[in-house]
Amino acid sequence: MTHRNLLLSVLAAGVVLGILSTLAAEQVDKVTSTESFCANSCHSMSQYIAQDIIYKTSAHRRNASGVLASCGDCHIPHDLVPATWVHVKSGIIDMISEMSHDFSKAENWQNIKPRLAKKVREEMRNNDSQACRHCHQMNQIAVSSEAGQRAHAQSYKNNKTCIQCHFNLVHEATPIHQGFQ
Ligand code: HEC
Ligand code: HEC
Ligand code: HEC
Repeated sequence: MTHRNLLLSVLAAGVVLGILSTLAAEQVDKVTSTESFCANSCHSMSQYIAQDIIYKTSAHRRNASGVLASCGDCHIPHDLVPATWVHVKSGIIDMISEMSHDFSKAENWQNIKPRLAKKVREEMRNNDSQACRHCHQMNQIAVSSEAGQRAHAQSYKNNKTCIQCHFNLVHEATPIHQGFQ
């Protein structure tokens, strides 16, 4: 094989491998973003989150239109590269956490919950509530209460993002940490 042919073969193999791994990543993202994967893959997510009555009866999981938000809709970015990164990173962290804590004891879950809630909220604040905006368009929300209309109008001026005003949406309430709002 000439050098040129060898180079071309290597390039071709690289392209094929690239396509295959993109498809694989897409498939992994799809499967691991589903409600049933997130809700059933470990004890804590199933018992304390997915089976929680607050979750099941929240407006995001039960409403007249039947449009439901899943774990992935709120917690996983929509672009492939960040999505894959979040899966790999949080998959590993979650696995370590699940193995190093006994979450069948409710108090162990309660101890770790404020830290997790803080992390999620800060992430959402830092990315301007990107996941929320995937479904909600700020200027299309027809807020019914006057106080709400005022809050929405002001949010542009004081640069507030959804999560700073709307937290404790679907999970058992965790008090907001100091300085968040
Ligand atoms: C409508 C959006 C939304 C959906 C759907 C959602 N979450 Fe959350 N989640 C949040 C927000 C916002 C927080 C930050 C804490 C808070 O204010 O509730 C959070 C926090 C968490 C936390 C940190 C602990 C806690 O209770 O605060 C975990 C773990 C979590 N979510 C897992 C899940 C899983 C698993 C599912 C699916 C069964 C899910 N979430 C569905 C929005 C959502
Ligand atoms: C998958 C799409 C989707 C995502 C993602 C989503 N929502 Fe919603 N949201 C909805 C739907 C559907 C409703 C229910 C509308 C109805 O009442 O018919 C709703 C209702 C709401 C309500 C009013 C009911 C309540 O619980 O107070 C608020 C506030 C809200 N969303 C904020 C958020 C915020 C903040 C986020 C991001 C953390 C978010 N949503 C993410 C679809 C979504
Ligand atoms: C400065 C605070 C603030 C910000 C930022 C904010 N909201 Fe609101 N929003 C409110 C208040 C207050 C209400 C009225 C709540 C009530 O009356 O119970 C409201 C109401 C709503 C409603 C319910 C509409 C209705 O009347 O049924 C939805 C949905 C909603 N917000 C979604 C969002 C989303 C999504 C974002 C980000 C794109 C966002 N909000 C940003 C304060 C805020």
